[in-house]
Amino acid sequence: MAPIIALAFAFLFFPLSSSVSALSSNYYDQTCPQLEQTVTSTVQKALQNDRTVAAALLRMHFHDCFIRGCDASVLLNSKGNNRAEKDGPPNISLHAFYVIDHAKTAVEALCPGVVSCADILALAARDAVVLSGGPTWEVPKGRKDGRISQAIDTRQLPAPVFNISQLQQSFSQRGLSLEDLVALSGGHTLGFAHCSSFQNRIHSFNATFDVDPTLNPSLASNLRSICPVNNNVRNAGTSLDSTNFKFDNMYYKLLLQGRSIFSSDQALVTDKRTRALVAKYASSQEEFENAFVKSMIKMSSITGGQEIRLNCRVVR
Ligand code: HEM
Repeated sequence: MAPIIALAFAFLFFPLSSSVSALSSNYYDQTCPQLEQTVTSTVQKALQNDRTVAAALLRMHFHDCFIRGCDASVLLNSKGNNRAEKDGPPNISLHAFYVIDHAKTAVEALCPGVVSCADILALAARDAVVLSGGPTWEVPKGRKDGRISQAIDTRQLPAPVFNISQLQQSFSQRGLSLEDLVALSGGHTLGFAHCSSFQNRIHSFNATFDVDPTLNPSLASNLRSICPVNNNVRNAGTSLDSTNFKFDNMYYKLLLQGRSIFSSDQALVTDKRTRALVAKYASSQEEFENAFVKSMIKMSSITGGQEIRLNCRVVR
C-alpha cells in the first residue's frame, strides 16, 4: 500500500514531470569534484563580456523546469521535422545558450560522460544570481537529460497576460505554491522585456481604458513612446526594473508603485495573500533572498530526464 500512496503523492505534486528522483548536494563529489568551480568560471567569463547573460541563464532554467521538468529539454536543437522548445514562441528571446555549451565542453574534458546538461544549467542559473549580487545556495544535483523537446509544449509556460488564478494554476500544476510564485517572480529583478510582452497594457487595454489604469502614468507614457502601436523595431523594449543587472528587491518596491512591466507582475498585488508577500519582500531584502532560495531549490528539483548527453544540443 505504501508505494501506491507515494506514487499518488508524486503525481499529485509533480503531475507534469515524468519522474521524481532524489537529488543531492554531493552527487558528483567522487565523480566530478571540479564541476562547480568549472561552471562558475565559465559563467563569470561570459558575464564579463556580456552583462545580459545572467538574466538569460536564470530564465532559461525556469523555462526548462516548467516543461517536462528540469531535464535540459530547452537546450535541444530542432531536428528534421521536430521543432524543439527552443523554437517555440516564448523561447525565441532566450539567449546565451553558448554559455552552457562552453561549460559542458569544459566539464566533459574533466569528467567525460558524467554530468547532465540539466545540472549544468541549474548551477549556471545559481551562479548568475550570485554574480549579480544575489544570495547563494547549495544546488541539489543528479538530474538527467531528457530526450524529448517539442515547441508546442511551450504553450504550457505562464504568459505575461495571466491573472492571479491562471498563475496560481500554472505553478500548482508543478507542485509550486503561491509563495513560490511571488518569490520566483522576483527573478524579474534582472533582465529585459520586448515590447510584445507588455503591449497589452499600453495599447487597447480593454473596452474602457486604452492603458492599464494600474500602470504608473509616467511609466506608461515612457513605455508607449518606446513601443508605439505599430512598433517595428525588433529589439525595442525596457529593463524589468531600475537596477536590472543587480539581484535585489527593487522589483517588489516598484511593483507596489504600479511600476512593474507585465500584467502577470501586477497580478501579484491583486490578491490579499500575494500582496502581503510582495510587501514583505519589498521591505526586506533578506526575507526575499530566503524565500527565493527556498523556491528555486523547489522549482529546480522537478526532474524528468533519462540520460547524460554529451552535447547539450542533441540527444545521445
Ligand atoms: C510568473 C510567471 C512568469 C511570467 C508570465 C514571465 C514572463 C516573462 C516575460 C514575458 C519575459 C520577457 C521576455 C521578452 O520580452 O524577451 C520575462 C523575462 C524574464 N523572466 Fe520571467 N516570467 C515569469 C516567471 C519568471 C521566473 C519564475 C523567473 C526566474 C526565477 C523569471 C525570470 C525572468 C528573467 C531573468 C527575465 C529576463 C530575461 C532576459 O533579459 O533575457 N521569470 N519573463
